Amino acid sequence: MVSVAVLGAAGGIGQSLSLLLKLNQSISRLALYDIVAIPGVATDISHINTNSTVEYYIGQARLSAALQDVDIVLIPAGIPRKPGMTRDDLFNINASIIRELVEAVADNCPSALIAIISNPVNFTVPIAAEILKARGVYNPQHLFGVTTLDAVRAARFVRDIRPNMDTSVYIPVVGGHSGNTIVPLLSFAEPQLDLGQEEIEELVHRIQYGGDEVVKAKSGAGSATLSMAYAAARFVKSLIQSFETDLVIVEPALVDLAADPQGARQIKSLGADGLAFFAVPVVLGKMGVKRIELLRGEPSVLERKGIEIAAAALKISIDKGISYVAKTS
Ligand code: NAD
Ligand code: LMR
Repeated sequence: MVSVAVLGAAGGIGQSLSLLLKLNQSISRLALYDIVAIPGVATDISHINTNSTVEYYIGQARLSAALQDVDIVLIPAGIPRKPGMTRDDLFNINASIIRELVEAVADNCPSALIAIISNPVNFTVPIAAEILKARGVYNPQHLFGVTTLDAVRAARFVRDIRPNMDTSVYIPVVGGHSGNTIVPLLSFAEPQLDLGQEEIEELVHRIQYGGDEVVKAKSGAGSATLSMAYAAARFVKSLIQSFETDLVIVEPALVDLAADPQGARQIKSLGADGLAFFAVPVVLGKMGVKRIELLRGEPSVLERKGIEIAAAALKISIDKGISYVAKTS
């Protein structure tokens, strides 16, 4: 049985995610942490008659207690976008929140698997890695930036133009998690997609900017919360399934390519050379990243170009994340 902590559990994502995690019968303990409003959220969820016990922790003084004996830490804490903002505009506030939370993870549950939802994911994951390194507890296999929502969107948006397509279609999405760093590899879909060039270009654009659709529709009330909670709950379910079975379970995630240098070789050869982090399809396991799932075949010209564009933008984000930690240490 698995102990899971949600940091930022009273927020838009945090509440829905905690609800979905309460429905996961493989979870034995749910530790819900926030700086506001968590007693009400946790008490409400705790009445659902599933296996897990629900505990709540409010305020920084209770953060260490929340993290005792935790196997998986999920971090959706931080501010969301408003119309007119990019994810990068969230950097200043969310970087300091991630710093505080990941330092506490390093000190209290250094062996836990860590899944970061807080944006900008392209920066917050390298920041988390640097903090864990500085505390001497970094294991690249244990750290994930949650990019599942990009794959969820890809599968759903295909269905919008091909109503007969099963929504469980597998579409690898690589790169990062914002705009042109999101690279859907439609030519690797299983089952194969039958799309014209114009349809491919429109679909790629919609997957890359799907987050903007939600920000616009919420008109100032935040960004995706419900679909994100679904995506993160799916990620956790896959992770726990991989602990419990020998099946090959794959989810996309932004990971440190050092987690599987052999698997990373392929993605680097496609235009991501010199990059430390990249979103890739990951085979999950008890150790976190078991390996990077290799792509079977060659990407299209458009996909290769997309990887190169993503790699150039990601390099800037990763460097900024690393220098943030150096400057603020
Ligand atoms: P929200 O404002 O509704 O909730 C954020 C929560 O974080 C709040 O409850 C707040 O109290 C809490 N919080 C703030 N500082 C904290 C701290 N120091 N410690 C603990 N909790 C703290 O925001 P949301 O809509 O839930 O979004 C959260 C983050 O997730 C945003 O950065 C958003 O951009 C990001 N996001 C990522 C993805 C993705 O695909 N990875 C998708 C959607 C949103
Ligand atoms: C998303 O993809 O929906 C999230 O990253 C939130 C956002 O800011 O778009």
